[in-house]
Amino acid sequence: MPINGSGKRLTSVAPQFATGRAPTRPMQDAPTNPACRPARLVPIHIPDDASLIDPDSGGPGAHPHPHPHPPEYAGHLAGVLLPSARIGSRAAELASLIHEDYAGRRPHLVCVLKGASIFFHEMLRRLQDRSQGYTFDFLRASSYEGTETTGTVRVSEDFDYGGLEGRDVIVVEDIIDTGVTLSRLLPVLRERGGCRSVEVCTLLEKRIDGERGARAAEAGGGGGHAPVVARYCGFSIPNRFVIGYGLDYNELYRDLRDIWIISQAGIEFDHKTLAV
Ligand code: IMP
Ligand code: MG
Repeated sequence: MPINGSGKRLTSVAPQFATGRAPTRPMQDAPTNPACRPARLVPIHIPDDASLIDPDSGGPGAHPHPHPHPPEYAGHLAGVLLPSARIGSRAAELASLIHEDYAGRRPHLVCVLKGASIFFHEMLRRLQDRSQGYTFDFLRASSYEGTETTGTVRVSEDFDYGGLEGRDVIVVEDIIDTGVTLSRLLPVLRERGGCRSVEVCTLLEKRIDGERGARAAEAGGGGGHAPVVARYCGFSIPNRFVIGYGLDYNELYRDLRDIWIISQAGIEFDHKTLAV
């Protein structure tokens, strides 16, 4: 049984969903995200050639640390892609739509740990601002080692599937890359949880191509899209590895306030050498 960094036991759910039951049909034949409705809004498009914000920029009168970062990350950061304030206002828009869509209902929000935790918190606050009732839970799912997906998704063993029964579930994710994680996770939640509906709210969606596009197509997507359509999505971002605001690279950089692009030096950095 594999153990993750925090000592939790993880269950592999790929490709048989770990339900003890075989999937009812091969993944390739499954319609894209069948229980989910189409996207509610167009994600904000961050272009491939978007210039990154210089972390020390700010101009006269600016906050002394417009984009703070721990000094030990010096050289690991190529620049800021999305400042946290911009994420906050986008979260407010997403929460408004969720509030409209779930009028009179109490959705059950499921945070996919650890990456989505900061965005999840932001969404909860924004839903509170709208007096939207909800319940929530956390689930640990991971498919990554370094910058490449392993194609295998693992879900924490102690997740309370019983809490999903008859509920309108919203899975809150940090980022959809190839879509492999969610394409494996959503059927598990539907089949084991018996929920009334399942939708996805993701902060980021990465535009995919090349090898990653092929992997997404294999998992049921096509045309350069992940096999899962998020009903609520904040930003469509270039195919670069991003860190911060909860997103990590080898467990580092979750503590950055903003979303950054990692530099080559950051990718090559031996994270075990960092003092704790
Ligand atoms: P997917 O299965 O390829 O869609 O990947 C989903 C998961 O991979 C996300 O929930 C993240 O945890 C992780 N991931 C994908 N791209 C990035 C990235 O650019 N930075 C940090 N984590 C990422
Ligand atoms: Mg994630």
